[in-house]
Amino acid sequence: MKEQLEAIRKSALDAVAETRTAADLEAVRVRYLGKKGELTAVLKQMGKLSPEERPVMGQLANDVRAALETAIEARSDALAQEAMAARLKAETVDVTIPGKKVELGHKHPMYTVLDEIKEIFINMGFEVMDGPEIEQADYNFTKLNAPENHPSRDWTDTFYLTEDSSILLRSQTSPMQIRAMETYGVPIRMVSPGRVYRKDEVDATHSPMFHQIEGLVVDKGITMADLKGTLNAVIREIYGPNTKTRFRPHHFPFTEPSCEVDIQCHKCGGVGCPTCKGEGWIEVLGAGMVHPKVLRGCGIDPEVYSGFAFGMGLERLAMGQFKISDLRLIFENDMRFLSQF
Ligand code: DAH
Repeated sequence: MKEQLEAIRKSALDAVAETRTAADLEAVRVRYLGKKGELTAVLKQMGKLSPEERPVMGQLANDVRAALETAIEARSDALAQEAMAARLKAETVDVTIPGKKVELGHKHPMYTVLDEIKEIFINMGFEVMDGPEIEQADYNFTKLNAPENHPSRDWTDTFYLTEDSSILLRSQTSPMQIRAMETYGVPIRMVSPGRVYRKDEVDATHSPMFHQIEGLVVDKGITMADLKGTLNAVIREIYGPNTKTRFRPHHFPFTEPSCEVDIQCHKCGGVGCPTCKGEGWIEVLGAGMVHPKVLRGCGIDPEVYSGFAFGMGLERLAMGQFKISDLRLIFENDMRFLSQF
């Protein structure tokens, strides 16, 4: 039995040393130390030994088992280290390889223009307000004194969201005049930029979605002179100090009197050219003195308070400032276009 045990010790230790993987090692363990293993089989024969031999052989068998267990554990550590080293080698990251350049975006040209305009109004003491694009017809039309038969109320002109024509996509930023007066009362000095929607076919100057900025000033003693002075100052900030303006009578339901404001064409100096379509002037905004009915509807006494309002298209401004010839370019998000700004 002694020879048998020594033979097992030798062959088992050799087998352990030859293992290459954790699975190999486990197979060796099972082969010698498992329930049906070679060492176990020898131990089962202990009962056949004489009482004198038994403790001696028992001791030897335990030594062999201990030696084997120690060897297996050591080999297991060694194999784990080898595996880790191999993995580290395979997964090495070369930190010296130059990185991939991250492309930084930038402000859209129209928002550059909008931010400039906001800045101008903020410097003049105006507040900037945000309003809903999904609006009630009441705010978009009725409270703005638009008669029931006003063409802009037609389903062919405005995007309605309900059958009863009560909810719509706002067709102008003017409803924010009403919301601002109802919420904050007077005196008030605010601008409100945002998207508006109309059922326009897309072409070089039209889009079913575009941007406006609305303005409203209401206080005691506000006159048409304030309207002209303020808008002239704003226009000269935007278009340059020598810009000539023209105030033309017009009609809007929510202002009385109403006007449209033109600037003299900066391209031809008023002679007439393709930019101004031969007119010499370019329309830039609509404005007027807030209609007494509109004030009254917001709980403001028109005998005490008066005000002016204005609305301006932002795309046209951006197109003028950046010499963009086609409105569609502003919305197409073509990088070849946007990266020029
Ligand atoms: N809401 C008008 C439009 O979309 C623009 C406008 C004109 C706004 C006169 C005003 C205003 O506040 O007083 O055409």
